[in-house]
Amino acid sequence: MPGFRNEEPQVSEGVGPGTRGRVLVTGATGLLGRAVCRQLRDDGWSVIATGFSRALPGTLRCDLTCEEQVHLMLQQHKPHVIIHCAAERRPDVVERAPDSALNLNVHATAVLSKEAAACGAFLLFISTDYVFDGRNPPYGEDDAPNPLNLYGRSKLEGEREAQRHCPDCVVLRVPILFGEVERVEESAVTVLWTLVLDSAQTCSLDHTQQRFPTEARDVARVCSNICSRRTQDPSVRGVFHYSAQEQMTKYEMAKAIGDAFHLPSDHIVPLTAPGPGPASRPLNARLACSRLELLGLAVEPRPFRAAILDCLWPFTPDRRWRQTVFH
Ligand SMILES: NC(=O)c1ccc[n+]([C@@H]2O[C@H](COP(=O)([O-])OP(=O)(O)OC[C@H]3O[C@@H](n4cnc5c(N)ncnc54)[C@H](OP(=O)(O)O)[C@@H]3O)[C@@H](O)[C@H]2O)c1
Repeated sequence: MPGFRNEEPQVSEGVGPGTRGRVLVTGATGLLGRAVCRQLRDDGWSVIATGFSRALPGTLRCDLTCEEQVHLMLQQHKPHVIIHCAAERRPDVVERAPDSALNLNVHATAVLSKEAAACGAFLLFISTDYVFDGRNPPYGEDDAPNPLNLYGRSKLEGEREAQRHCPDCVVLRVPILFGEVERVEESAVTVLWTLVLDSAQTCSLDHTQQRFPTEARDVARVCSNICSRRTQDPSVRGVFHYSAQEQMTKYEMAKAIGDAFHLPSDHIVPLTAPGPGPASRPLNARLACSRLELLGLAVEPRPFRAAILDCLWPFTPDRRWRQTVFH
């Protein structure tokens, strides 16, 4: 395979017919991993999708916190590329159960990176805007991280482990994600849908923390661009940022969802002081994406209202009402 330096796999079970090379995706049962698998397959890669508790037939089940399983998986499949999406990404959960979260976000990343280096695979590690404290946006790729919570610290440690074992890896930092979900609770954006629908209940939502909701599909296109370019240009390495540019608080996201679906949203009220919760969050960790843009690897994000309509329509309560919104 041009551009990569590993051998043929012993087994290629479950791998699609792509011709560009083998890409192994961790977290393929999650929000971003699903979009990444779909995009890479569409773009002609052989995709080895891996998950854990939700792994169905066609997806490899591998507990990334088990060194033995990771070793065997990589030895068996010898991917050219690994896109590492798996993580515990809920800041409050990380704060409440730090040991298991650090085991996945840091230790498993270190093990996977070591194994990636051993089999000569290019590693693309997905990280977060929460590595920044949000006090002085926008943040460039070389700005100093200063995470406010344990989730951000764990992802920063993960970045360092990835770069320590695979100095030629790419770290791609992204902000809050949404996309096609199996349940609305799967993303911190789509979960607002339930609150928007329940117009009998007054609901206060944060109106202090600026966010840049980004569609998983757009991130997946960026991942595919990075992998393709890397096959021709080994200088594609280091830290990259990708983010949509529409700035919104949670309150504004909920109002925008109401607008998109022509739903009343007077019951949604702004909360002008940060709410309680175990994890502190940055006020505005806007990512500047100049490295991706300079290399022509960024993609134009879809407008929030159009993208959120697509993601939430399967959850609309009744077909007649759906027709009113969509026609
Ligand atoms: N979602 C966001 O708003 C957001 C924002 C910024 C950055 N990110 C980053 O983007 C990446 C993807 O996030 P996401 O939203 O797609 O996460 P997600 O939907 O919560 O998915 C997490 C994935 O990790 C897998 N996983 C959990 N424990 C595992 C284990 N022990 N072994 C193997 N796999 C395991 C899960 O597999 P099973 O479900 O099969 O157990 C699932 O596929 C993460 O690195 C996250 O830090 C996300």
